[in-house]
Amino acid sequence: MDKLVIEGGGPLLGEVRISGSKNATLPILAATLMTDEPCTIRNVPRLRDTMTMIKLLKSLGKTVEFNENEVRVSSKGSLNYLADYKLVSTMRGSFCVLGPLLAKLKRAKVSLPGGCVIGIRPVDLHLKGLKNLGAKFEFEAGYVMGKTNSLKGNYVYLGGDFGSSVLATANVMMAAVLARGETIIDSAACEPEVEALADFLMAMGAKIKGKGTSRITVNGVKKLHGANFSICSDRIEAGTFVLLAAATKSNITLTGLDYTHILALIDKLQEAGLKFQHADGWLKVKCQRNLKPTSITTYPYPGFPTDLQAQFTTLMAMTPGVSIITDKVFPDRFMHIAELNRMGANIRRDGNSAIIQGIKTLYGAPVMASDLRASAALVIAGLAAKGKTEIHRIYHLERGYENLEEKLVKLGAKIYREKE
Ligand code: UD1
Repeated sequence: MDKLVIEGGGPLLGEVRISGSKNATLPILAATLMTDEPCTIRNVPRLRDTMTMIKLLKSLGKTVEFNENEVRVSSKGSLNYLADYKLVSTMRGSFCVLGPLLAKLKRAKVSLPGGCVIGIRPVDLHLKGLKNLGAKFEFEAGYVMGKTNSLKGNYVYLGGDFGSSVLATANVMMAAVLARGETIIDSAACEPEVEALADFLMAMGAKIKGKGTSRITVNGVKKLHGANFSICSDRIEAGTFVLLAAATKSNITLTGLDYTHILALIDKLQEAGLKFQHADGWLKVKCQRNLKPTSITTYPYPGFPTDLQAQFTTLMAMTPGVSIITDKVFPDRFMHIAELNRMGANIRRDGNSAIIQGIKTLYGAPVMASDLRASAALVIAGLAAKGKTEIHRIYHLERGYENLEEKLVKLGAKIYREKE
């Protein structure tokens, strides 16, 4: 296993290109199960999660080629209906093959993804929505077994205790595309990744209205055809680089991003005193002065994203004054606090909030990455801290950040990998 070593404390400078969105890629690759014709997906990030989804598609019977950042999916025969535990348990995004398999094969056996360090993460909304379309489910040995005689359009309400669900919306929308008649999904997730999936499905011949809103209407079609599609930029990677620029007091220009996807973050950072310049496709962050402590609460899109909560916590940990970080989407997502405190931060957890008494400087220390975004928060802390930081268990980072070390070295960071 590798660890990351960072010599922190210096500002960074330069330009970084934002990769394609991981969370858009995963359901879009799953959607290719719904056609027998070839699909070509461009701007696909080369990540561990992408490779896991490709392995899953291959195990289900698809032929997949991945060159540079382009994925070609084609069919070589009939599909399998079994999504194995080994592939689904390592990545929750795999569960979004359930809707496509039910739509195409009328049956599916998909491993339940289980919880992870950021929370229990149930799938009740996925199953409720698919049941509304006529699927029946049984559970056996950690698998959910779904079948249907035929899927039929219906009214589906997808609001849960923590708001809308991104992947439940994806699963139900995909199944509805090949169902008979009209489906209305209410309290649908509005995330750009769900919009991207709707765009891909429409490129395949689906009839969808209301993408990007909380009410999505799908009129079922008999068949989908192949499509060529380009994945949108990763708003969470973009937000991570913005927060990294702020924490290291750097001048960084992000290119290839959609600025409108991170308005909730930009707004909070402007409140903290950070200045931005932007135009179509780029965003310049220039941080020279101290910021003001700023509180955030995470919500589903267009609210502040839970996937940037840990990274924002790092920034506020080194911003003198009190700020409060509340996570309403994943109330237990606070594994990074203990590690940041090992670097000198003063953060206390209270229920679904982190109370931060910000200090001027963090100090390098050996720390342990617990999950993908917590790892990004520790990289930011390491780059901003005085002295040397060693981050263990960095395989989490490879799940979601394409060429992170290369990108950081290009910006002047002193960061390298060592064998444990
Ligand atoms: C997706 C993202 C993840 C992000 C999350 C929230 C992918 C691959 N992952 O995950 O990076 O952090 O959205 O923006 O796109 N819930 C239920 N019942 C369900 C489903 C969800 O109660 O059936 C709850 C969850 O526990 C959580 C909240 O709803 O509290 C939102 O989760 P959800 O939007 O479903 O997250 P994912 O789609 O799994």
